[in-house]
Amino acid sequence: MVNKISSIEVLSNERLAADVFCLMFYAPHIAFAARAGQFVMLMAYDKSERIPLTIAESDAAAGSVTVVFKVMGRSTSDLSLMKKGESLFYVAGPLGKATEFPASGRAIAVGGGIGLALILPVIKEMRDKGLSVTTIAGVREKKFLFWEDKLSSGSEKFYLTSDDGSCGGKGFVTGPLRRELDASNDIKAVYAVGPVIMMKTVADLTREYGVKTIVSLNPIMVDGTGMCGSCRVKVSGKVRFACVDGPDFDAHEVDFDELLSRLTLYNDKEKEAFEAAHKCRCL
Ligand SMILES: Cc1cc2nc3c(=O)[nH]c(=O)nc-3n(C[C@H](O)[C@H](O)[C@H](O)COP(=O)(O)OP(=O)(O)OC[C@H]3O[C@@H](n4cnc5c(N)ncnc54)[C@H](O)[C@@H]3O)c2cc1C
Ligand code: FES
Repeated sequence: MVNKISSIEVLSNERLAADVFCLMFYAPHIAFAARAGQFVMLMAYDKSERIPLTIAESDAAAGSVTVVFKVMGRSTSDLSLMKKGESLFYVAGPLGKATEFPASGRAIAVGGGIGLALILPVIKEMRDKGLSVTTIAGVREKKFLFWEDKLSSGSEKFYLTSDDGSCGGKGFVTGPLRRELDASNDIKAVYAVGPVIMMKTVADLTREYGVKTIVSLNPIMVDGTGMCGSCRVKVSGKVRFACVDGPDFDAHEVDFDELLSRLTLYNDKEKEAFEAAHKCRCL
């Protein structure tokens, strides 16, 4: 069931790390139905664009839903300015298919950048199902790190990496991932969420080991309900719509190069929209 709700109260909006915000809002129907891997479409104000954000946490008893976002352009900038007690203009969800898990065994969860928040519900659900979870978290540098405690406390083993060595081990998530894959042959699945280039690199690595790998894709979405076609991705040579067929897909079948090029299609227009909105606020 998808719930479309107008005027949703913001319960809190806090800065977690550089350019990263954690927004909690009251939406009991979404909180009740949300599963790992699902997302909401939301608009901060009536003039904001509608954007997809993954449900990072939900509390059915409190009726709250939490999203974590990185300020990228106009819409995420609008969201970052929202204050406790204000109302979001529009929210619909939970959308997309829930993540599927093996019945038992060991799994590895990999989160990079903003993906640290997106992988948390996956870790929690695996832990609730009794799976043994190893988590690998990667950031570019320490100022982008958040929720290290939440991620590590839900995992049997936890690795942290940073590109520049300012926190955790210096290097990419693929370093500890390769060590884990070399050390054991009982890993049932790898789940990866983060920048497209990270997910592609993880897919290339796990393909060598023949380990099933699921990625959460982030193409441009407009309606989030399968009607507009903007979120099309190529998987196993076929066109799929990430909002209704995903966002999770088999990483070894995804055409990442096409996804990368489609994500930059509207860069000029997005820059214009951000500058126009910023100018308006400064006047
Ligand atoms: C299923 C899904 C879940 C996502 N979950 C998260 C999340 O939890 N946290 C988070 O920070 N980001 C998430 N994203 C990406 C997020 O939607 C974009 O960063 C956001 O839409 C940027 O909008 P903007 O106006 O601020 O930036 P813009 O300047 O408009 O765009 C910056 C970049 O964001 C991407 N983008 C722009 N518009 C959209 C759109 N409508 N749909 C998807 N991508 C877009 C493009 O790559 C673009 O180049 C998710 C994307 C998808 C598809
Ligand atoms: S966002 Fe329109 S079809 Fe998926």
